Amino acid sequence: MGKKSKTGLDPRYPSIDDLRNKAMQKIPKFAFEYLDGGCNEDVNLRKNTAEIREVELLPYYLSKHTESVMKTELFGHTYDAPFGIAPVGLQGLMWPNAPEILAKAAFEHNIPFVLSTVSTSSIERISEITEGNAWFQLYHPAENSLRDDIIKRAAAAECPVLVILCDVPTFGFRPRDIRNGLAMPPKMSVKNILQIMGKPEWAMKTLIHGQPSFETLKPYMPKGLDLKQLGKFMDQTFSGRLNEEKIKPIRDMWKGKLVLKGVANEADAEKAVRLGIDGVIVSNHGGRQLDAGESTIKPLCRIAEKYSNQLTVMMDSGIRSGPDVARALASGAKFTFMGRSFMYGVSALGNNGGNHTISLLKTELQQVMEQICCERVSDFPNHLIKKEIR
Ligand SMILES: Cc1cc2nc3c(=O)[nH]c(=O)nc-3n(C[C@H](O)[C@H](O)[C@H](O)COP(=O)(O)O)c2cc1C
Repeated sequence: MGKKSKTGLDPRYPSIDDLRNKAMQKIPKFAFEYLDGGCNEDVNLRKNTAEIREVELLPYYLSKHTESVMKTELFGHTYDAPFGIAPVGLQGLMWPNAPEILAKAAFEHNIPFVLSTVSTSSIERISEITEGNAWFQLYHPAENSLRDDIIKRAAAAECPVLVILCDVPTFGFRPRDIRNGLAMPPKMSVKNILQIMGKPEWAMKTLIHGQPSFETLKPYMPKGLDLKQLGKFMDQTFSGRLNEEKIKPIRDMWKGKLVLKGVANEADAEKAVRLGIDGVIVSNHGGRQLDAGESTIKPLCRIAEKYSNQLTVMMDSGIRSGPDVARALASGAKFTFMGRSFMYGVSALGNNGGNHTISLLKTELQQVMEQICCERVSDFPNHLIKKEIR
């Protein structure tokens, strides 16, 4: 490993873009493109970051400043920073052990880690690593018995927050994944084998750790499925489209905090309030579902203005730096999440990827807070230069 500064930062990678470039060099093309891509023509993917960056902040240089503190209270827990690790499926395909590496780093830095139903580690394993602090994201099962069983496991693992998802009524149309024939485990086509041969460290680590698999779902999957059967199993097991009738029994059953992720307009936020949901993540799935949709900063502004008193309004999609986190917080988000930023980090730097990426974002955000004279995360909106971005 390279030299590290006192903050845990590797000085060779002082931006998420540096980590992205390194990740591109280190992992096979089919895995990188799965992580990096949006959908269709990637319009929404690009807009997410570009439009967050139109948000501007006012500094107050002559105001009294004692200290800037990033700590943020969320659902009864005080986190060390106002950002967390979003749920990402197939993490072990990008880097072996990625969910475990990120969960451990999140726990050590006291920020939330959200495990996806289709990640490559189990609820129980991640709960053990995070001492019951990880959140769990549930893809909605078609069968009630499976839904109830997974929810019971999340409760038994002491997950404080259950995240349900409303923005995957269909699979996103992702040309790169179609071209690459992406499958889980990876298809051993000649093209993919050649890509793997070009990434010896990834190949060696994957060999040592074994084929990534959907660990949380293992108890429900028939053994020895081939690729085609696996795809069919996933299609039959999950019913993408969420609605109020499907949310009600989950709300009744889940005693912890319930968060609805993928909210992109006020009408759905209004329904979330009526259903007794505790918080929403305004998100467009990192631009992976609806290329013709809005970037997330726009609905964030509208939803935060209208519903912040009734819901904990959080946001993800497009955030790539400490200043981006600051822009989202100033625009009304109480908390933020990132998906790709952390996965670039772990794909680039392996075991130190989580620690490095969190340290980098914390350092950047601390600098912004001190620069603009913002002492508390909740004060960010006072620094917003208001303009029409909705
Ligand atoms: C490769 C990849 C896989 C994802 N898988 C899931 C998933 O399984 N469940 C989920 O709720 N969101 C998933 N997401 C969406 C993320 O949780 C998050 O909304 C998104 O990454 C935020 O955008 P960002 O990557 O620009 O930070 C995935 C995103 C990516 C990039």
